[in-house]
Amino acid sequence: MSNAEWATRGNAVFIGTYNRFPAAMVKGSGCRLWDADGKEYLDFLAGIAVCSLGHCHPKVTEAICRQAGSLVHVSNLFHTPPQIELAELLVGHSFADRVFMANSGAEANEAAIKLARIHSGEGKYEIISLAGSFHGRTLATVAATGQPKFHKGFEPLPHGFIHAEFGDPQTIEALITPQTCAILCEPLQGESGVRPLEPEYLRAIRHICDRHGLLLIFDEVQTGLGRTGTLFAHEQLGVTPDIMTLAKALGNGLPIGAMLTTEKIAASLIVGTHASTFGGNPVAAAAAVEVIRVLLGDGFLESVQEKSRYFVEKLQGVAARYPHLATGVRGRGLLLGLVLTEKGVEQGPDIVQRMFEAGVLINFAGNTVLRFVPPLIVSTGEIDVLIEKLCQVFDRLT
Ligand SMILES: Cc1ncc(COP(=O)(O)O)c(C=O)c1O
Repeated sequence: MSNAEWATRGNAVFIGTYNRFPAAMVKGSGCRLWDADGKEYLDFLAGIAVCSLGHCHPKVTEAICRQAGSLVHVSNLFHTPPQIELAELLVGHSFADRVFMANSGAEANEAAIKLARIHSGEGKYEIISLAGSFHGRTLATVAATGQPKFHKGFEPLPHGFIHAEFGDPQTIEALITPQTCAILCEPLQGESGVRPLEPEYLRAIRHICDRHGLLLIFDEVQTGLGRTGTLFAHEQLGVTPDIMTLAKALGNGLPIGAMLTTEKIAASLIVGTHASTFGGNPVAAAAAVEVIRVLLGDGFLESVQEKSRYFVEKLQGVAARYPHLATGVRGRGLLLGLVLTEKGVEQGPDIVQRMFEAGVLINFAGNTVLRFVPPLIVSTGEIDVLIEKLCQVFDRLT
């Protein structure tokens, strides 16, 4: 079956929520993907910042197969060894003492929202998040997401989500009411165009939380697990949250999310207050255990930082060479964006399409940047190929 045949079959049965590339992916290895026509792609999307160890990492595949051969699912009515090992690893390498396992980023954020509300007590339910943020597609996380385009058509949204302007701590403070219980933010906004929150800004948000007795929730669904060069992005910013959510890279492609918090705060979620049938499923958890072991292995995170420096320099070179299309680079670690000029923005979707045709997968985020989120195992040689193809595409645009 060809790409075209798969696309025809898919388009005949799916609800049309996705604007898919005209390719049916059938195989992956490291930073490479192959479609049904046998075409090879260099993957700088990694399943939207998910396959951080690359496609079909041998240790993860081995763990999945091993676990699938012994136990796939029993629900959270029982303990399972992979889930416990995973929670121990997360607790052992973060500020947190306690973990709740979910299946996705949105569900991890739902758990964080519920925890913030129940811990803060009756009448304290408002959560302030930032303009431009992205927290998921369930009704509560869509309400928390500070981008009106995601709200349209789904009103009335759950009550109690307030959005502050990006970048100014005072506008956050002005929105606090006796009902406020938490501030929710990503240390770096991924979906809205790779916008880092500066350390001083995050520190100011932490101080606001401390002054007003609010919980600080970091959504590290995209920034967590080595993506920015440290296990969690907040580690390099000198600010510790009260609650943190993870998903995406946690299972390297298997669906799993987690909500982490301290002993004291976790005590508010007592038996029966929250649950998930699949959350922390043994197969997904076994994959995640291997992911964390690899990330914590000798020199892995340092290598992400080194490759980030190399990549940033190369992208700055592209911006300097094509000033009519790009103005600069932003981001942290291997979550990078090439910021486009007005002319570049007009051509953003076309650039992504031409890169796809050239066999390189990237995306256009927030209508402002070309976003690069390759597997963290990407080589400098693969970065060179991306840069070469990007320059070829830019040359043809000019
Ligand atoms: C920061 C952030 N939070 C939450 C989500 C939602 O995660 P999921 O799609 O796994 O529900 C995303 C997804 O892009 C994200 O980037």
